[in-house]
Amino acid sequence: MAACAFRRSIARQLSEVLDLPPENLIKSISAVPVSRKRHDADFQLSVASIEEGGSSDCLAQDLQLRAQKLAEKLKCDAVVSEISTGPGTVNFTINRELLAKTVLQQVLKDGTQYGTKSELFSTVPKQKAVVEFSSPNIAKKFHIGHLRSTIIGNFIANLKVALGHEVTRINYLGDWGMQFGLLGVGFQQFGDKEKLKSSPLQHLFEVYVQINKAAADENTKKLAKDFFRKLEEHDEQALSLWKEFRDFSIKEYTRIYKRLGVHFDEYSGESFYKEKSWEVLKMLEDKGLLQKTTKGTGVVDLSEKKDLSSLSTVIRSDGTSLYITRDLAAAIDRMNKYNWDTMIYVTDRNQSSHFQHLFQILKLMGYDWVERCQHVSFGLVQGMKTRKGEVIFLEDVLDEVRSRMLENMASAKTTKEVEDPVETAEKVGLAALIIQDFRGLLSSDYQFSWDRALQSRGDTGVFLQYTHARLHSLEQMHGNEPVTDINVACLQEPDAISVLQHLLRYDEVLYRSSQDLQPKHIVSYLLTLSHLAAVAHRTLPVKGSTPALAQARLCLFQATRSVLANGMKLLGITPVTRM
Ligand code: ARG
Repeated sequence: MAACAFRRSIARQLSEVLDLPPENLIKSISAVPVSRKRHDADFQLSVASIEEGGSSDCLAQDLQLRAQKLAEKLKCDAVVSEISTGPGTVNFTINRELLAKTVLQQVLKDGTQYGTKSELFSTVPKQKAVVEFSSPNIAKKFHIGHLRSTIIGNFIANLKVALGHEVTRINYLGDWGMQFGLLGVGFQQFGDKEKLKSSPLQHLFEVYVQINKAAADENTKKLAKDFFRKLEEHDEQALSLWKEFRDFSIKEYTRIYKRLGVHFDEYSGESFYKEKSWEVLKMLEDKGLLQKTTKGTGVVDLSEKKDLSSLSTVIRSDGTSLYITRDLAAAIDRMNKYNWDTMIYVTDRNQSSHFQHLFQILKLMGYDWVERCQHVSFGLVQGMKTRKGEVIFLEDVLDEVRSRMLENMASAKTTKEVEDPVETAEKVGLAALIIQDFRGLLSSDYQFSWDRALQSRGDTGVFLQYTHARLHSLEQMHGNEPVTDINVACLQEPDAISVLQHLLRYDEVLYRSSQDLQPKHIVSYLLTLSHLAAVAHRTLPVKGSTPALAQARLCLFQATRSVLANGMKLLGITPVTRM
């Protein structure tokens, strides 16, 4: 990793002066973010970060002085060509030709792995991770929260895989519960086997809506209850109908997830844990954690004072299990099955207290591994509507963004002729959805806007795709062989240096996202990369330049496209080569 070699070299010199091991210094040396106000320096060391304990209350003046004193003791060498100080920092400028050579060589050599092998990750042990995401409910609405869960979970899984972790992706379907009692009865009244086969999600939802209306009637309610009891008692006929609902739904979901570029290693679901939840209840009882209430429900006391001021119901008065009971069973089962090091649940924040309770109960049961479970929650999205109306199915969103994108492409002057406009529109549209969603903190709510998401300029996924396509066609135009032997003296213009400096920072950005699981660091990195590329594209022409200059610039653009594509893929975007 290019940045590593530089950081190491700087750390070596610092370690002699400061008498600290270089390993301790590496994380304090960071690449300087590229900004409008150009900086010559490529790396900086924050003086406060190397002082031991309580340095944060140091006066700014003090820090400045210390930075200066430290800088005086350091010398330029073959790697560092200039040392300066800023507010509380010592700044290092890398020998310009070495910068270009090292960065470009590394990007082209490492390809898709650029940045992922950085020593920033050397202290992070490789782990087995379970990421549970998407998890829609069969026959109920697929709401925008499920879409968010799908793209966020996919991103987390992608990132972990890229960083060398072993990941199991689980889709935990809402495929059990009273709703299947209703659905069973509903299907007997309004169902159609053919429709179930051809469009299961749509049809089951229709049946569910119809029977819900009818369920005001006591008799229907009773029938639904009976049907669900039959399911719980393994009645063959009831189960086989339920299985059809489930199988057809999964088949259709798989097809739609494919459009999204998402896959799962396991389609699990609440139904898997209907029996295992009895074992959980038995365990709770044996551990003395299960209490019966006067209402006949079974609860676990979660309060500190053990006065039931906080509790979680794990069994209904009629003896049936609940959502949380099945989640307890699922967590324990996954530990047995995968022996994971970390397990992540991705859902909207409305389920925060559910997961808090889940983790608390597991802790009371003595499962210390619960410390390694994490609920990644996200905020709400307001105002997502298609032209047809409110969103009910995932596919509606995908169709809508695709058709809007197709219209935009048809009316834009810059649009190239593409082989498959529908597929291109789909990929670009998806990029638009993902970037709009990932721009802010996951925990923030945001107002959904088709127009904002689909703007071709500005900070959108469309812009990223456009940049990627443009860089790709530049390569095509000038022979798409990877350029190797270049004259780095040709890459000394400020706009070229800015791109190189930005490429240098990629590993730090990956590191940040891997620490807090927020995609926004990568998003803003890629947007900046695209803006820098646009400027460089304008000021550093390939066409009409001398062969040496053209080669060097082409190499810079190749590297840019490579990192752009890597980052986009992590976010779940498929880069297009023409649009
Ligand atoms: N099916 C649930 C819903 O749509 C989400 C499941 C989340 N995961 C879990 N293990 N509880 O609300």
